[in-house]
Amino acid sequence: MVESFADKVLKWFAHSGRTHLPWQQNPTPYRVWVSEIMLQQTQVTTVIPYYQRFMHSFPDLLSLANASSDAVLKHWEGLGYYTRARNLHKAAQLVRDQYAGEFPTSLAEVEALPGIGRSTAGAILSLACNQAHAILDGNVKRVLARFHAVEGYPGQAAVQKQLWAYAEQHVPAERNAAYTQAMMDLGATLCTRSNPACLLCPIQTGCQAFKLGNPEAYPAPRPAKDLPEKQAVALLLRNAEGEIALEKRPPTGIWGGLWSFPEFPDEQTALAAVTTKPVAIATLPILTHGFSHFTLHLKPLLVDVQDLHAAIDRIMDRDSWLWYKAGTEFSGGLSSAAQRLLKHLTEEV
Ligand code: ADE
Repeated sequence: MVESFADKVLKWFAHSGRTHLPWQQNPTPYRVWVSEIMLQQTQVTTVIPYYQRFMHSFPDLLSLANASSDAVLKHWEGLGYYTRARNLHKAAQLVRDQYAGEFPTSLAEVEALPGIGRSTAGAILSLACNQAHAILDGNVKRVLARFHAVEGYPGQAAVQKQLWAYAEQHVPAERNAAYTQAMMDLGATLCTRSNPACLLCPIQTGCQAFKLGNPEAYPAPRPAKDLPEKQAVALLLRNAEGEIALEKRPPTGIWGGLWSFPEFPDEQTALAAVTTKPVAIATLPILTHGFSHFTLHLKPLLVDVQDLHAAIDRIMDRDSWLWYKAGTEFSGGLSSAAQRLLKHLTEEV
C-alpha cells in the first residue's frame, strides 16, 4: 500500500518532532489555547518564558477569567499584539459565564470565541482532544504551498481557499494531534522560509516546488505596500519628586489598556495642556515604533514642573492617571514606548 502524505509526516514526527515544549505537557484545551494565541505572532523561543509565567499566575481558565485586565496585560508586556491578551481574557470570561468554565469542544463553538480563527480552533481541538481538524498557520501554509506549488500570495482569498482544501485533503482521521504538531514542526524546522532542508524532508518525493528546483519561491510574498507614517508628541510630565505622569490608554486601538505617556499631535498642543509653569523643557531623541499597519515616530517632550501634584488639563478629572517613579515595580502593563522612554530616563540620571 502506498504511504500517504500523513503517514510520511507522522513517521518523521516519531523521530524528529518536538515533544518537550511546555504546552505539550498536560495538553488541556486551556493550556493549548493560551500557547496557540501566544504563538500566533511570536516565535517559540520568545514564547516559552512568557507561557511559563502566564501558567504560573493563571493555571486554569477560571483564574484567568477572574484576573484583572491590568494583571493579564502585565503578563503580555513585551509580546506585542495586545489584542491577543484582551481577547484571551474576554474569551475566558465568556467560557466561565456561558460554558460553566468548561472549554467548549466543538469547532463552531471554539471558533466563535474572541481571538480564535479557524486554524487556531482546529489546532486547539486537534492538539488537546485529538479531534480530526485541519490547520493552516504560517508554517503549514508554507509546507503546502511548496508541496503543491501553489502560486500567489496566501493573503488572497482564492489562494487561501486552495490551501485550506489541501490542508483538509491530507488530514488523517487518526493520530490527528501528532499530525498537527508534526506539520507545525516540519514547517518550523525543515521547510523553513529560507534554506529549507529538502534533503531531510519526509515528503520530498511528491513536493512540486522541490521538483521545480525553487522551493523558496513559495509561498509568494505579500505584494509590497508602503505603510503610512505618523508623527506624535509624547508628554513626559515630571514632578518635583521625579515622578512621571502615566495615562491608561483606552481599551481599543494601539497599546489599548496599557499605561503610556499622553500623546498629542504636536509640541504646542502638548505644552498647552500643561496647566502649571514648567521649570524645564527638553526634547529626547525620536522613538520609532513599527505597527503592522503604520509606523509611528514619537517625539518625547520632557517637561519638568515644580508642583508635586501638577496638573495637565486631562489629568485631574480621570482615574486613569497616576504618578509613577521610574525604576520601581509597576503592576499594570506598560506600552513599549513607555518602557523604552522610562529606561532612557533612569539611565540618564
Ligand atoms: N506554533 C503554533 N503552534 C505551535 C505548537 N504547538 N508548537 C510549536 N510551534 C507552534
